[in-house]
Amino acid sequence: MSSTWSFYSAGQLVFGSGAAAQLGRLVGERNLKSVLIVTDPALIAAGVLDRVRSPLIKAGIEVDVFDGGEPEPALEVADRAIEHARGFSPDAILGLGGGSNMDVAKITSAVFTHGGKLSDYFSYDNVPGEVTPIICVPTTAGTGSEVSHAGVLTDTAGEMKVSILSNYLRPCLAVVDPVLTLTCPPQATADSGIDALTHAVEAYTARPSEDFPLEPGQSSPYYGSQPLTDCFAEKAIQLVGQHLVTAVREPDDLAAREGMALAATLAGLAFSNAGVAVVHALEYPLGGVLHCSHGGGNGLLLPFVMRYNLPACQQKTANIARLLGGDVSSLDEPQAAELAISTIEQLKRDIGIPLRLRDLGAHGDQLPGFAEKAFAIKRLMQINPREPTLDDLVGILRSAL
Ligand SMILES: NC(=O)c1ccc[n+]([C@@H]2O[C@H](COP(=O)([O-])OP(=O)(O)OC[C@H]3O[C@@H](n4cnc5c(N)ncnc54)[C@H](O)[C@@H]3O)[C@@H](O)[C@H]2O)c1
Ligand SMILES: [Zn+2]
Repeated sequence: MSSTWSFYSAGQLVFGSGAAAQLGRLVGERNLKSVLIVTDPALIAAGVLDRVRSPLIKAGIEVDVFDGGEPEPALEVADRAIEHARGFSPDAILGLGGGSNMDVAKITSAVFTHGGKLSDYFSYDNVPGEVTPIICVPTTAGTGSEVSHAGVLTDTAGEMKVSILSNYLRPCLAVVDPVLTLTCPPQATADSGIDALTHAVEAYTARPSEDFPLEPGQSSPYYGSQPLTDCFAEKAIQLVGQHLVTAVREPDDLAAREGMALAATLAGLAFSNAGVAVVHALEYPLGGVLHCSHGGGNGLLLPFVMRYNLPACQQKTANIARLLGGDVSSLDEPQAAELAISTIEQLKRDIGIPLRLRDLGAHGDQLPGFAEKAFAIKRLMQINPREPTLDDLVGILRSAL
């Protein structure tokens, strides 16, 4: 059965090594005269801020910097960035960093524009309209936030990740310059890289869009997998298979960085339309309590969730083995699907992703609590190829302990 589907992206996507040098022109031609850059001390120390700020200043754009970003940012970080934006009143807000800084920039833009408090915006479709233009310049190859409709913060008191999803949060301009990822440390490269793989796999195996009958243009956080998201996800998986281990082990290898930067952006395009599912749902409480990175937690969980999902998406899982570079010529479909899972388990070892939950200090009595919190995120349960029961989620976590 054919179905109607639609696709959202960033307004303009500029990709290529050295592309950051064009920021002055790209911002100037939008008639934006002042820009607040949201970043963090590690990126300033690595010299990345200068590569973005200089072309803006040369183009005569007034620049202010909020440097209070942090990994997996707490709600308070966004509150401070919003205060800073109110003091400066920029024409545009630019997120420079990994997903953490880009997300703070996106959320800051929403609250700076429309007022109120952060919690007014939680969940889906609570941004009331157009926001102050958002520009994203990623420095990790991972989250795809530069094209996505998502912003994620950590509620430290509630020990939970909270997300804000709205198509108004898609940047009007994404400049993906792989050179900016050259200084990304190996652990952050590994974690964010396997996050990109998780986005691609969850988008690829998401329930098909025909299972979500929506009117064209009707709003939904996710639309299920469709031909375009499949294209992007397949290419992203292939690129991760070719480049992630090299990007971690040989940080200066620009070809590997370029491959991973493209993989991450393509995976962002795929997941922010098709959806992410049970891996992400389980990571939200896990990250909140165990304080692992988003990518590290996702990477840990990915093969265990793939095994649970196998009965519902064997063919696509078998394709994943081929896309990751496995020789499937003599394998039948169940064997190829097994190869996909074992290849990702090996990838985790090769790049230093924790293999099991106990490696993060988790113990068995925490698992039902994690499962309950994940189960409550209905949008992520429904998009999963196999809609899980609460007991199924506990089972997945026990298999990963
Ligand atoms: N909005 C979305 O669509 C989306 C999707 C997935 C994840 N996320 C969120 O993104 C966050 C994780 O982002 P991430 O994995 O990109 O990591 P990150 O942004 O947390 O960065 C990790 C660390 O690496 C440093 N770093 C990043 N790039 C560097 C560079 N080029 N040179 C030197 N240091 C560098 C940062 O300063 C930081 O300390 C989480 O909060 C997660 O929930 C958002
Ligand atoms: Zn993710």
